Amino acid sequence: MPAVTFNRVTRTYGDITALEDVSFAVPAGSICGVVGTSGAGKSTLLRTVNGLEVPTGGSVTVLGQEPAQLKSGELRALRRDVSMIFQHYNLLGSKTVAENVAIPLRLAGVGKAEIAQRVADALDLVGLTDRAGHLPRQLSGGQRQRVGIARALVTNPKIVLCDEPTSALDPITTAQILDLLVKINDELGITILIITHQMDVIAKIADFVAVLENGRLVEKASVGEIFARPRAELTRRFVETVVPQRLPASLAQDAAKGALGTVVRVVHEGGAGRSLLNDLHKIFGVDASLLHAADAPLRHTTVGTMVLGLQGSDDRVGQALDWLAARNGITEEVLS
Ligand SMILES: Nc1ncnc2c1ncn2[C@@H]1O[C@H](COP(=O)(O)OP(=O)(O)OP(=O)(O)O)[C@@H](O)[C@H]1O
Ligand SMILES: [Mg+2]
Repeated sequence: MPAVTFNRVTRTYGDITALEDVSFAVPAGSICGVVGTSGAGKSTLLRTVNGLEVPTGGSVTVLGQEPAQLKSGELRALRRDVSMIFQHYNLLGSKTVAENVAIPLRLAGVGKAEIAQRVADALDLVGLTDRAGHLPRQLSGGQRQRVGIARALVTNPKIVLCDEPTSALDPITTAQILDLLVKINDELGITILIITHQMDVIAKIADFVAVLENGRLVEKASVGEIFARPRAELTRRFVETVVPQRLPASLAQDAAKGALGTVVRVVHEGGAGRSLLNDLHKIFGVDASLLHAADAPLRHTTVGTMVLGLQGSDDRVGQALDWLAARNGITEEVLS
């Protein structure tokens, strides 16, 4: 059973349609990313999962329940299973780190001794044990986000929702926070639904990605598939921020003049590109020059692109292209 299922979800605000007919599922135990430009409806979608937003059409099923149909007591119970991490941390400035982390447990009426133990465990998990008595303003942004993560984990949730959790952080701190999210997914099996406009965040941690444009789902696939074969124009533009989709201008000019032979763009996954240049030469006698290359290391695999200039007789180049097209883990596209 998926952790979350969006079934034809629509949300309108008067004339504004924030979400329109969005359907996809988030497999239990996965990290699923949602990307989209500003105003695409990402936050609205995320908030339907914990019942902060109610769809005006369609339904959302979370751990077998529909938040929109629950009574307030049942919704409170579901929210212990579904916690949230925010871009700006949402910590209470007058409370210590430990007190902030304890808030969801206090609201749930958990006893003092158990709160102390679980707060200590959560702070240990995020590496902030020595900061328990500090106030949020005494911490760096990355440390504050780790308090936010500890607070999200302290109820032992099954799902963690993340709304742009690294947008306010520098790249190195971002990497540390992403490592922490991967760790809680790996070690605790928690399903993570993360929205972001940073495609490198998706590359680093996600298993699946959904692309939203103006409230509509334009694409949903595994991250490997999205990086190797983006279909929608918007998806291509997002992927391009990590893996170039076009030739640099000077190369494109030379290619157009025919100076580089048959120019082919090869996308290779899981090491399938490793011996390609050698093979083209050995098997077909085709000289392949490497014009351009880029790699995107993903969570479970690496997707790379190479642009090759193939020189040889038409026959041999044709055979080489057919051979390329039939290879596992290789997608090729003749550019000129
Ligand atoms: N309470 C509301 N009242 C009216 N319009 C709203 C409301 N909440 C969201 N919207 C509109 O719905 C659309 C989607 O908003 P949403 O916040 O979900 O976008 P987003 O993808 O999260 O954008 P960003 O990347 O900027 O955070 C926007 O046009 C927004 O103005
Ligand atoms: Mg948003």
